[in-house]
Amino acid sequence: MQALKKLQCVLRSFTGGPGLIVARCCVPERSVSSSPPPQDVAPGHSMLRHLTSKIKATGPISVAEYMREVLTNPVSGYYVRNDMLGIDGDFITSPEISQIFGELLGIWCVSEWMAAGKPKQFQLVELGPGRGSLVTDVLRVFDQLRAVLSGTSVSVHLVEVSPKLSQVQAHSLTGEQNQVSRDESSPVYRQGTTTSGLPVCWYHRVEDIPEGGNSLFILSFSHSDPGFSIFLAHEFFDALPIHKFQWTAQGWREVMVDIVPDEPDKLRFVLVPAPTLASSMLLQDNEKREHVEVCPEGGVTIQRLSSRIAEYGGAALITDYGHDGTKTDTFRGFRGHKLHDVLNAPGTADLTADVDFSYLRRMAGDKVACFGPITQRQFLQNMGIDVRLQVLLRSCPDAPTRAQLIQGFDMLTNPKKMGERFKFFALLAHSRLSQPVEGQGTVKKAPGPLPVAGFTELGPLEGRS
Ligand SMILES: C[S@@+](CC[C@H](N)C(=O)[O-])C[C@H]1O[C@@H](n2cnc3c(N)ncnc32)[C@H](O)[C@@H]1O
Repeated sequence: MQALKKLQCVLRSFTGGPGLIVARCCVPERSVSSSPPPQDVAPGHSMLRHLTSKIKATGPISVAEYMREVLTNPVSGYYVRNDMLGIDGDFITSPEISQIFGELLGIWCVSEWMAAGKPKQFQLVELGPGRGSLVTDVLRVFDQLRAVLSGTSVSVHLVEVSPKLSQVQAHSLTGEQNQVSRDESSPVYRQGTTTSGLPVCWYHRVEDIPEGGNSLFILSFSHSDPGFSIFLAHEFFDALPIHKFQWTAQGWREVMVDIVPDEPDKLRFVLVPAPTLASSMLLQDNEKREHVEVCPEGGVTIQRLSSRIAEYGGAALITDYGHDGTKTDTFRGFRGHKLHDVLNAPGTADLTADVDFSYLRRMAGDKVACFGPITQRQFLQNMGIDVRLQVLLRSCPDAPTRAQLIQGFDMLTNPKKMGERFKFFALLAHSRLSQPVEGQGTVKKAPGPLPVAGFTELGPLEGRS
């Protein structure tokens, strides 16, 4: 009860004031339209040439290799070259739709930091930050809750494969207060200071973030709790390469990408006649589905996060569209907010596959406690989205902005829009969920652990106006 009150207190101190109202756009998220796809453009040709020469040289490639090349090839990859988010891009995401989304995730971070006993060092890590809207909204909450966070050294760490997007993020977070690293041996490829004065670093891979805290930032601290990190990943895991497998009369066979015979500029899916290393290693013996997608890179990332959380403390909050080991063929492309054939004009459209949360849970093993997946609607409601909307509306006299706030709320929570399709999944340190033992030798009743915000229904907040 004590713990519940503490959490309600954090929520109330934030939902009490409107803060800044941020203009965001509102277009249908990855919507499906029947109108014809846009004309293919030049980047697709260079990627297609690259892929067909690869296939001619080595034979059909796995769907994972195809997806990796198309999305993150260092020269012509879709993410590497494009700013694809928003109304003029190919798709739009929750943080781009409404500021409330990032604000509630910011409260989640603070609440988990409190539950861990307010460590003196706090690393906020985001995987795949896109345009940087989520982390900007989270940091605005940190700024508003600066009294709660006072005396804590907060640093920001962004894992981003795209130089183009890292520039957009740097601009939005720091203005001009950032520079590209000249030190080839450093895993940090860009660094700067946010407009609220926090150090921020960019890395290509999760494993590049120094374990136990970034030495750059902790030199001046002698406390013994380095490394506490909250990891956020919104629509990151769906962009990681998947392998596809099909059950046949001969057993499991891997789906590959090949060139259409006599049509050198067209690609097609084929089944490999014999088992591959992936089909022998990645499938479960008791698999019941006839078509399965597995994302080993997602599995390795989860293992890395779990090890770090188990060793240094912290939590991960993962949001994506996905399922719990039930769906089959979910690989698809998006261009200009419309579905796009995944094999047509590669490099000109986003490629994505639903996240299999049951696989992520298996990969986390017993190193950490897993929560969810629960629906976005449920999570945001548990976090007090209705209250936050009312607070913003009360302080907003401008009719178009009010309409936009309401439209954004509907898009995020409506079961027919993003409310049910998107899921929240969390990894937490086991120590976070055990009773803290206080006052050695004294008989002191230890309070229970703080409930996990978002995954626990908190009931009405007391004393709300
Ligand atoms: C679908 S976007 C989501 C962006 C943002 N999180 C949002 O929800 O608006 C995927 C993001 O992950 C990044 N990304 C994709 N694959 C990556 C990889 N293998 N390593 C690091 N970042 C990656 C992309 O550049 C992009 O920033």
